[in-house]
Amino acid sequence: MTATVIGGTPQMVPGRAGRALAELGDRVVMCGIYDEAGSLIYDDLSRNDTHEVRELIGLVRRRPGPVLELAAGTGRLTMPLLAAGKDVTALELERSMLDLLRARLQQAPGRLRERCTTVEGDMTSFALDRRFGAVVLGTTSISLLDEEGRTALYGTVRDHLAPGGAFLLSTTYPTSGSTQDEIRIDMLGASGRLYHLHEHWSPRTGTRTVTLHAAELSEGPVHVCTSTVAAIPADLLEDELVSAGFRVNARHTLRTGGDRHESVLLEAEVETR
Ligand SMILES: C[S@@+](CC[C@H](N)C(=O)[O-])C[C@H]1O[C@@H](n2cnc3c(N)ncnc32)[C@H](O)[C@@H]1O
Repeated sequence: MTATVIGGTPQMVPGRAGRALAELGDRVVMCGIYDEAGSLIYDDLSRNDTHEVRELIGLVRRRPGPVLELAAGTGRLTMPLLAAGKDVTALELERSMLDLLRARLQQAPGRLRERCTTVEGDMTSFALDRRFGAVVLGTTSISLLDEEGRTALYGTVRDHLAPGGAFLLSTTYPTSGSTQDEIRIDMLGASGRLYHLHEHWSPRTGTRTVTLHAAELSEGPVHVCTSTVAAIPADLLEDELVSAGFRVNARHTLRTGGDRHESVLLEAEVETR
């Protein structure tokens, strides 16, 4: 297991969640959301998460040809894309996430499995010998990249889109005027296990920290997965896309279950002059 034990104080977790976890002392085992320990929790939770799926599938259906899904994780979006009849190439950086996706495909009906190709790779630097009708980057995964990474990503996406193909990417960010904000959501995993998901937004640093752990804390080690990423406004992404040679055709609003944050799906195409 690659989790890091950090002597009891979960310094990486801000706010009330960090203070509550600190009280657990050396029972806390910190891990990354996508590493060997974290990926199991992520996968359990993501199986019940339908955020953006309906909107994404509706847009992908309008585009002929195969789909390239970047940062595919354990298949939260891959499986609905396959169920919609698409040929999907699912690219993912982390071996632990990819292993879970491959295991999930093994259990899927052959008519889905045979239309999926999995690739271990970095979305900012890869070369596949084919072009796609749609390139999908969902789940606000653009937030995992800094400005240099995003510039490189726009290049790899351009190189893999067929003429008339769409780049579909989502982002979540606080609405203007939001103050520091922390919420806890109780979520049931597909296994039936209950988890706490803490979201901490910091307008000062423009970041969002997501922390996950099992709700049951009465005894034994507690695996706590956390990740801090930038919250990138859609306006900034649209400007970057235009500078990178894309035309943004539409901004689709996604449901967030509240009014403190906006979540949108951008639909872009390579600009042809
Ligand atoms: C928020 S998760 C989304 C996973 C999946 N799309 C979903 O909806 O559950 C982000 C994923 O991006 C992967 N990732 C991070 N950096 C990456 C990179 N440079 N290239 C490809 N995948 C990356 C992570 O390992 C993780 O699986």
